[in-house]
Amino acid sequence: MNDKKIQRILNLGIAFSKERSKEKLLDRILEAAMDLTGCDGGTLYINNGTELEFNIMITRSKGVHQGSEGDAINMPPVPLVRSNVCALSALERRLINIPDVYECSEYDFSGPKQYDAMTGYHTKSLLVVPMEDDKENVIGVVELINAMDADGNVIPFPQMDEQILHSLGSQAAICLVNISYSHQIQHMLNSFVQVMTTAIDARTPYNANHTKTMVRYAGRFIDWLNAQPLSWKFSEEDKQIFLMSAWLHDIGKLVIPQEIMDKPSRLGANEERLHARLERIGLLTQIEELSGTLAPEKCKSRYERLAEAKALVQEVNTAGYLTDDYRDRVKELARETYRETDGSVCPWVTPEERDQLLVRKGTLTTAERKEMQKHAAMTERMLTQMNLEGSYSKILLWASQHHERLDGSGYPRGLTGDQISMESRLLMIIDIYEALTARDRKYKGAIQIDDSFAILYRMADRGELDRNIVELFEESGAWKPLPESGQTDER
Ligand SMILES: [Fe+2]
Ligand SMILES: [Fe+2]
Repeated sequence: MNDKKIQRILNLGIAFSKERSKEKLLDRILEAAMDLTGCDGGTLYINNGTELEFNIMITRSKGVHQGSEGDAINMPPVPLVRSNVCALSALERRLINIPDVYECSEYDFSGPKQYDAMTGYHTKSLLVVPMEDDKENVIGVVELINAMDADGNVIPFPQMDEQILHSLGSQAAICLVNISYSHQIQHMLNSFVQVMTTAIDARTPYNANHTKTMVRYAGRFIDWLNAQPLSWKFSEEDKQIFLMSAWLHDIGKLVIPQEIMDKPSRLGANEERLHARLERIGLLTQIEELSGTLAPEKCKSRYERLAEAKALVQEVNTAGYLTDDYRDRVKELARETYRETDGSVCPWVTPEERDQLLVRKGTLTTAERKEMQKHAAMTERMLTQMNLEGSYSKILLWASQHHERLDGSGYPRGLTGDQISMESRLLMIIDIYEALTARDRKYKGAIQIDDSFAILYRMADRGELDRNIVELFEESGAWKPLPESGQTDER
């Protein structure tokens, strides 16, 4: 083998190792084998355990390239029987070199002969080599057809070509095994993600819609982006990793208390407790009235005050936005006290309930919001513990930054500008958009699409979001409602 060919095989080995798509790799293997041996045709078969399936078929002199990403191959698979030369090569794991098919009676060449009769082609020399993985399983067979001399005459495959094909086959097999390992890891990771999201789903059904809808928006956006004449593109691998980041971005919610996750009103679980206390104050007043320890007019005014309190609590508990007037009335109510049967003086409204009722917007108090925000740090911690390596480490980076903001106002790290990856900037926009437009949250109604984009643009104007990405996202139409989704805060 000359130095040039050795160098070429080495370069091919490097190129093969970078290929992540099995189909493309198989195509490259066959093309490379044909280039190096200078032959006219080649077929690559995949061993399914009982048959050899046609995977790629090339006949250069006829401009034929079928299989892989070309036209589909309409040929029946080859049974693994010894009479067929390719099957024999697979069964005995050995290279077979046939100088002239029509001069050889040792094997059944009805297939190539049939092909010749159908197409007018003339199959003469053949070189067949099995492709083995690291466990010596034959994963496929490469068949090269019609070696050519410098003048274009068909000649038998020289012995040197056997070495070339052998060397190429071993390199290709290693790369195929690596791709298969990488697919296995991806499959395992996908299964893990599904288990985890199902667990989140079981806790709070709305979140399953949140992540699922985000993944769909993200997939559609990337497909749209890749079709645009822009420099920002996602490789197939990065697309899968990004979708995985979307699936996992809220995994930290697994440790957030349920009453905070789903808190439907300001008081949440305290609503019943406060209501029961106000009822009790009414009963205690009745006792005081009946025992004559409280003057009737004072009793009457307390009943009136209690009725006002109940109405105020009910109204404030679910109000969208709390005005100063309502907040003042809540503060006033929180100053009311009553005497318990043991003589102790207690407030009508506890300090915790007061803080909850005073929430301006939404349903979470500052303390509850902080608790909720812990999910981003928890997502980071959980993904760190998963020891994601290589390109998968991007999942940790992209997912854990989904609540950061470009102006540093986000969490958990308060990162700014360039510290936040483009992918995280995209994820945060999709996350906010889905949260705003979601219809299935107990604690809020859905915001219209136009209004949601107006909010995103306002956030971009404030320096929180990447305006270019908001514009791209809007232009992409990837946000359009999904038929089967409930269109389901950014929680
Ligand atoms: Fe989140
Ligand atoms: Fe989220």
